[in-house]
Amino acid sequence: TDLAHIRNFSIVAHIDHGKSTLADRLIQLTGTVAERDMKAQMLDSMDIERERGITIKANTVRIEYPAKDGQTYILNLIDTPGHVDFAYEVSRSMQAVEGSLLVVDASQGVEAQTLANVYQAIDADHEIVPVLNKIDLPAADVQRVSEQIEDVIGIDASDAVQISAKTGLGIPEVLEAIVARLPAPKGDRDAPLKAMLVDSWYDSYLGVVVMIRVIDGVIRKGDQVKMMQTGAKYGIDKLAVLKPQMVDIKELGPGEIGILTASIKQVRDTKVGDTITHEKKPCAKPLPGFAPSVPVVFCGLFPVDSNDFEDLRDAIEKLALNDASFTYEMETSAALGFGFRCGFLGLLHLEVIRDRIEREYDIDLITTAPSVIYDVFMRDGSKIKLHNPADMPDMSLVDHIEEPRIKATILVPDEYLGDILKLCQDRRGVQLDLTYAGSRAMVVYDLPLNEVVFDFYDRLKSVTKGYASFDYQMIGYAADALVKMSILVNDEPVDALSMMVHRDRAETRGRAMVEKLKELIPRHMFKIPIQAAIGGRVIARETLSAMRKDVTAKCYGGDASRKRKLLDKQKAGKKKMRQFGKVEIPQEAFINALKMD
Ligand code: GTP
Repeated sequence: TDLAHIRNFSIVAHIDHGKSTLADRLIQLTGTVAERDMKAQMLDSMDIERERGITIKANTVRIEYPAKDGQTYILNLIDTPGHVDFAYEVSRSMQAVEGSLLVVDASQGVEAQTLANVYQAIDADHEIVPVLNKIDLPAADVQRVSEQIEDVIGIDASDAVQISAKTGLGIPEVLEAIVARLPAPKGDRDAPLKAMLVDSWYDSYLGVVVMIRVIDGVIRKGDQVKMMQTGAKYGIDKLAVLKPQMVDIKELGPGEIGILTASIKQVRDTKVGDTITHEKKPCAKPLPGFAPSVPVVFCGLFPVDSNDFEDLRDAIEKLALNDASFTYEMETSAALGFGFRCGFLGLLHLEVIRDRIEREYDIDLITTAPSVIYDVFMRDGSKIKLHNPADMPDMSLVDHIEEPRIKATILVPDEYLGDILKLCQDRRGVQLDLTYAGSRAMVVYDLPLNEVVFDFYDRLKSVTKGYASFDYQMIGYAADALVKMSILVNDEPVDALSMMVHRDRAETRGRAMVEKLKELIPRHMFKIPIQAAIGGRVIARETLSAMRKDVTAKCYGGDASRKRKLLDKQKAGKKKMRQFGKVEIPQEAFINALKMD
């Protein structure tokens, strides 16, 4: 295809502002998918994404659009995830396109993820077309939101396209704006092949599928290619475009986006940002490439039923095949038996993986407290990367501990500002900035990541009735007075509940934890002390009193079958319990004990 007739773009938006609905409309209006095959949110392929309405993996679709100028254009839309955990995927998808539609809900206005994502588009030198969505809603305020876009983001919104992705109003204008206002890609068809590896995933029929954007040259089926970073060589088995279903194609030229397969064994063998070139006639210089995304939140995943361990291993290995940013290693816990220590990009990523294991593989899981990576500096001068609080060395050997910190940007309506400042202060935040955009305040805080992985996002939403939005980026490590807090149930340490906390907050956390556990652990035939301790020092203690009567006692004497029924019932209830010494703790206790108010 002629370069002048190609437009490559992405859609940036805050969650729920209508990105997927708009993408569906563009696909529908151009007849890319036959009406009968149209299902809501075409691009969100995974069930979980569909259910939660969030887009996780970057997807792409090629649309053919006959424009008003009489020419047919090829529009390649790369869909990007909206959630903060996947910011990295956003940034790399942006490198593969020249422009962005900035979708803002005209009844809500600019939110934290709008900002984070649009700055990435600006960094990637995109031409940006503002699109005001949901103008069908009575609360839509085009004037106010346009001004906000100009004030806060600093781009001209006077010619924003006004649409309702729901009713279809304004969609033809969006297509025309893409053609008229976004630039065509540049590239040299006669130069040696230079293509960017944009994304890769595992497909159960095709194996590893690689998404590419051709910069220069032409790639054809059967070509021998080389990945310039990894040095690996492959023959191209299949070349296709996504409409969004795969349609084979003979070649891809400059400016084009498509997928290839080449007997690549694992997703891990492909490096996002790598340069693909011809083995025989390589290009002179590779693309700059990207730093890999690294997991920042860790937790243990253990099967509730220890017989499920092999199934869990199988599930985790399969999921990791398709997700290079999810890491795992085997872990043994005195309390929980065999399981895995897993690394995630953030809490949402953790939740998504945990849900998939439980649902798609039908394994009940115990998830331990999420933790970040601490740098533990030892007195002997060595340094340990601590992924698991249970591995914390004896404090007497430790010189100091550093923890990761983030720069958090929060947008919130005025009336909740006080609550937000208090929340950030309580979480050891240091205020960096406070500005106003209309009736909304924008606060920037330096916060310990560890205080955010617990339930910061939930708290933020609840104190502001859902009106605050939040985004963050890692900024580095800093030392603080951190200690390991252990939880003892009936004098047995429950390793899965140990956590790193700030010394000043240890007592409050410890107290809250033992009080919660007292509620959550069912009574036994004996008294159970529940304690929180730092080193050998107990900082909080509760006692769970003994149950008064045997449960079977009320089945009076003789009726053996009734008695058995009752015991069977108890046994079923026990499936979700784990044994700690003489004590049984239900699975919910672990999850709920870690939610702090
Ligand atoms: P993520 O995939 O989570 O990033 O969300 P999204 O930005 O893709 O939002 P989505 O398209 O899923 O839309 C969010 C909600 O807004 C859905 O319930 C849509 O039906 C609704 N919605 C989208 N566009 C419009 C619109 O123009 N008008 C109205 N009234 N509702 C809309």
